Amino acid sequence: MSKRAIKIAAIPGDGIGPEVIDAGMEVLMAIAGRDGGFDIKSERFDWSSQRYLDKGDFMPEDGLATLRGFDAILFGSAGDPRVPDHITLWGLRLKICQTLDQYANVRPSRLLPGIEGPLKGVTSKELDWVIVRENSEGEYAGVGGRVHQGLPEEVGMDVAVFTRSGVERIQRFAFELARSRPRKLLTLVTKSNAQRHGMVFWDAVFEQIKGDYPDVTTDKMLVDAMTTRMVLKPESIDTVVATNLHADVLSDLAAALSGSLGIAPTGNLRPERDAPSMFEPIHGSAFDIMGKGIANPLGTFWSGAMLLEHEGEAAAAARLMRAIERVTGEGKYLPRDLGGKASTREVTDAVLEAIQQDNA
Ligand code: IPM
Ligand code: MG
Repeated sequence: MSKRAIKIAAIPGDGIGPEVIDAGMEVLMAIAGRDGGFDIKSERFDWSSQRYLDKGDFMPEDGLATLRGFDAILFGSAGDPRVPDHITLWGLRLKICQTLDQYANVRPSRLLPGIEGPLKGVTSKELDWVIVRENSEGEYAGVGGRVHQGLPEEVGMDVAVFTRSGVERIQRFAFELARSRPRKLLTLVTKSNAQRHGMVFWDAVFEQIKGDYPDVTTDKMLVDAMTTRMVLKPESIDTVVATNLHADVLSDLAAALSGSLGIAPTGNLRPERDAPSMFEPIHGSAFDIMGKGIANPLGTFWSGAMLLEHEGEAAAAARLMRAIERVTGEGKYLPRDLGGKASTREVTDAVLEAIQQDNA
């Protein structure tokens, strides 16, 4: 019987994207070779701000149809100082997320071995969270407008759109995820004291469905108070569900508290699996260090582990995580943002070596 092949579309994008995606693909190929149970077939797409500047579009017209032919997407980053950010985002990354309806954005944060976060005495025992971010509507729905530009009566509006189907599916996804974790604890984050329509709606849907998950303990927080709880009582948090914008902000804080934005991974999931899901490090394009060979590839490796997990290759995903943790734990080859001096190449080689040596 021929081996199963996971088809991955690699989209490096802008800035340090190409450096970390090359490293990420190398590591994924090594894992496939080491585990032997599956193959990886990948294709690389040059969809980026450079392409937009050269050709006028971020991807070809049939780009999204092309992506549908893949099992998963590994994305680097989008953002270039020569192009306004909202043009890049809506032309590339948000376009992919929204068109493929990757509505569940999953953002794990954990203090990996050997990494010291800014919170004194806090280890992976206290800081092991997953933030579930609604990824298709809310404050990012793209609904709004700008009229009378340049006049004193100019108006700019972004309307946060919440639909029952959109709210219910992300909350149910979060309940299922919370249920699969040892602590089975889900925190709903909203701002229903001030945002009295959409956020009260979120609270109401949560109340309506939580009875379907009697094994999951729940609590509720306002988003401002949640930032305090993350800093002062990290051990009281496990799985969190929040809107697109609220979770965007909380996940940056979570990444900083777990050591660095450079290691944080994310998955834009299409749980129904009728379209590919997209995995990416959350650090962004980091133009200041582009091309220097010092970008931290660990966020991309961790994203690769999420990709494998989503593709049903749990053993390979676990092996990759062990390799990452071995490298952070040993501390010999840490990138600069984690207090080390290692280059992208050295960190990648260390992880490749750890993959070969892993005997489990
Ligand atoms: C993220 C980023 C993006 C977002 C930006 C670049 C639009 O901050 O992935 O968290 O807000 O979604
Ligand atoms: Mg963000």
